[in-house]
Amino acid sequence: MSRIASAEFRSKVCSAEDAAKIIKNGMNVGFSGFTGAGYPKAVPGALAAQIKEAHDRGEAFMIGVLTGASTAPELDGALAEVDGISYRMPYQSDPIMRNKINAGISGYQDIHLSHSGPQTWAGFLGKLDVAVIEVTAITETGELIPSSSLGNNTLWLEAADKVILEVNSWQSIDLFGMHDVYEHNALPPHRLPYPLTSASDRIGGKTIKIDPAKVVAVVETDSEDRNTPFKPLDDESRKIAGYLLEFLQHEVKMGRLPENLLPLQSGVGNIANAVLAGLLEGPFENLTSYTEVIQDGMVDLLDSGKMTIASATAFSLSPEYAQKMNDNAAHYRDKIILRAQDISNNPEMIRRLGVISCNGLIEADIYGNVNSTHIMGSKMQNGIGGSGDFTRNAYISTFVTPSTAKGGAISSIVPMVSHHDHTEHDVMVIITEQGLADLRGLSPAKRAKVVIENCAHPDYKAQLEEYVAAAAKASNSAHTPHDLNKALSWHARFLETGTMKA
Ligand code: COA
Repeated sequence: MSRIASAEFRSKVCSAEDAAKIIKNGMNVGFSGFTGAGYPKAVPGALAAQIKEAHDRGEAFMIGVLTGASTAPELDGALAEVDGISYRMPYQSDPIMRNKINAGISGYQDIHLSHSGPQTWAGFLGKLDVAVIEVTAITETGELIPSSSLGNNTLWLEAADKVILEVNSWQSIDLFGMHDVYEHNALPPHRLPYPLTSASDRIGGKTIKIDPAKVVAVVETDSEDRNTPFKPLDDESRKIAGYLLEFLQHEVKMGRLPENLLPLQSGVGNIANAVLAGLLEGPFENLTSYTEVIQDGMVDLLDSGKMTIASATAFSLSPEYAQKMNDNAAHYRDKIILRAQDISNNPEMIRRLGVISCNGLIEADIYGNVNSTHIMGSKMQNGIGGSGDFTRNAYISTFVTPSTAKGGAISSIVPMVSHHDHTEHDVMVIITEQGLADLRGLSPAKRAKVVIENCAHPDYKAQLEEYVAAAAKASNSAHTPHDLNKALSWHARFLETGTMKA
């Protein structure tokens, strides 16, 4: 049976190829999609083929690609492969996309996820010409039932001149009722507070209402969300999860956290997923989460009854768990709320609810500054995603990482980070498999001591201590001692010799 109940929308059904022809060189296109969930599956591929044909004829054809967050090979991969993306924001993790960014072919702007929609809406990024949005179904009255991510969809639909819808019948129809679609905010000076005081509150409707006159094409698909499985838990990630759990228990004991903690945010990546697995075996009950993605570990927590509610904007599930969600969406829709990313990642909400954040990092420095995005200062990995939204506004902000990378040739703890995403002002706790550094209430000199003692790998401890001594000498023991001739020498050494070891 067709998922398009509205006769008006049914009359606009066409092929992905015909829909793609609406998108022209130089346009800005807002696509749905957030961490491999709910991205359009057919139009981007058809568009990529048309871009390639244009390039083969010697014609220019590149577009701006705006999304919720990362997508999948069918969108980022396909368009990047044909050199079709001139501008990309806000978060990506596709290897082909990453290569084109680092080769200077695609311009990339790494914006906080909570800013990405409102900045587009405000016109900071130019005009949004077309929105291409995946939905689960269209009701008889022309309302849209969202699919596995909400992301920036409502903002793209509002801001774009023209709308192309993909109706994906692979998405479970039982997703109806899982979303909380709040459509009443405005840009400053008319912006209102979000009336949410708990992760479980619902403040909006179940469907997205749009102006049907804007809808220029509807494409039917039946394709699964494509996500990569998480790596199996290893000893290192178990240790990291263990330190975090111990820390949280201590905070409860000290009366600084309630027994069921505060809403949890868990970032992308394998270690963050492992922390969730650790909570499954931990002592905490009646947990809640106010986060941006629902990973496998969070589904397990909901299944076990340890977590009562999970609020996010999208799924980020392995293929096995995506299938499970699809088969059992009716069961999960009382426990999971999917909101627009302007709300899931909203600083106002994160501060008000007192979220405990936990994100991965690439490197941290001895003073607690964190680089989440750049390899050796220059090369973009994925992007800041929501880690800035959560870290700066969290009640307690934590970062997790192995203490070394690339078989020990790189120390994740360095004298000075080669790129700043999260400053010492925002980072409270750093955890590696070596231990946990609680930086709250410490001056820079004391932070350096505890980071080196508790988090650095033994192979790099002496080298870090030598740096601290040299920095104290070079700066006359100033407030945040650095020896500027040596601060980034570890990175330079790695680039020259293949190791940070002296
Ligand atoms: N120097 C060089 N490379 C490094 C490195 C370092 N200091 N630290 C990690 N890497 C490399 C790893 O070797 C790995 O490379 P590979 O893919 O070639 O094997 C890659 O970076 C990913 O590292 P991994 O250890 O698998 O970590 P992860 O899956 O936990 O991801 C981040 C870590 C930082 C990349 C990831 O958390 C991220 O993109 N964060 C930013 C966005 C974010 O936090 N979003 C959540 C907000 S809600």
